[in-house]
Amino acid sequence: MTAESLFATDIASMAPQMRALLINSLPGYKSGMLVGTCDTKDQPNLAIVSSHFHLGSSPPLLAMILRPSTGNSERHTLNNLLETQCWTLNGFTLDQAAQAHQTSAPYPKNQSEFATCDFRAEWLPEFGAPFVEHSPLQVGCVLREHHPLSINGTHMIIGEVHYLRYPHAAQRSDGGLSLDAMDLVAVSGLDTYTQPDAGLRFAPADTTSPPRQL
Ligand SMILES: Cc1cc2nc3c(=O)[nH]c(=O)nc-3n(C[C@H](O)[C@H](O)[C@H](O)COP(=O)(O)O)c2cc1C
Repeated sequence: MTAESLFATDIASMAPQMRALLINSLPGYKSGMLVGTCDTKDQPNLAIVSSHFHLGSSPPLLAMILRPSTGNSERHTLNNLLETQCWTLNGFTLDQAAQAHQTSAPYPKNQSEFATCDFRAEWLPEFGAPFVEHSPLQVGCVLREHHPLSINGTHMIIGEVHYLRYPHAAQRSDGGLSLDAMDLVAVSGLDTYTQPDAGLRFAPADTTSPPRQL
């Protein structure tokens, strides 16, 4: 296979759409989660987001990066979670990938992606944002910090996990979750959905012994 080498000037001179797709591929496979929010009038909203990352376990923190509002695009997820201070993350399976992808279309605020994309909203009395009913992994987050990033106007949103639901059988004896047991989808770029298998697991690495497969 011949290789492509690109330097900063080559990347800068690419057509914007080509550059976006190329750079979006670089972080590799990521978790694709449906973010459920509502406004203060309980108008629900659902959008696929793949920029999630783990920030810490004590307190339990998850973060994501949301795009800014521009002249011609409202950001319902961002506006809603700043308004209500909470949101849900909902995993999905490969047979729901088309519906999940469709939530990225710019529907107007008064049109819920739950109904339009054929997901059912599930409301828990204890939590202020809607979950996706029957999602294999449901996470309820409460806003802890919001950082507008001056480099490109995106927003880093940090949430504390206040609610979790997953199948009992998916939890290993060490506490971790077997994501393959929940059939969760991983996302590459803005268009590719795949379902990873169990993969390989290893014990924590140390400097004195070779890798030990679990
Ligand atoms: C696979 C995939 C991943 C996405 N990841 C993100 C993301 O991490 N952050 C973001 O702001 N938008 C992301 N989007 C775009 C949003 O889904 C899209 O802008 C959506 O219309 C936002 O809806 P809202 O205005 O209702 O919040 C992604 C889209 C796709 C298809």
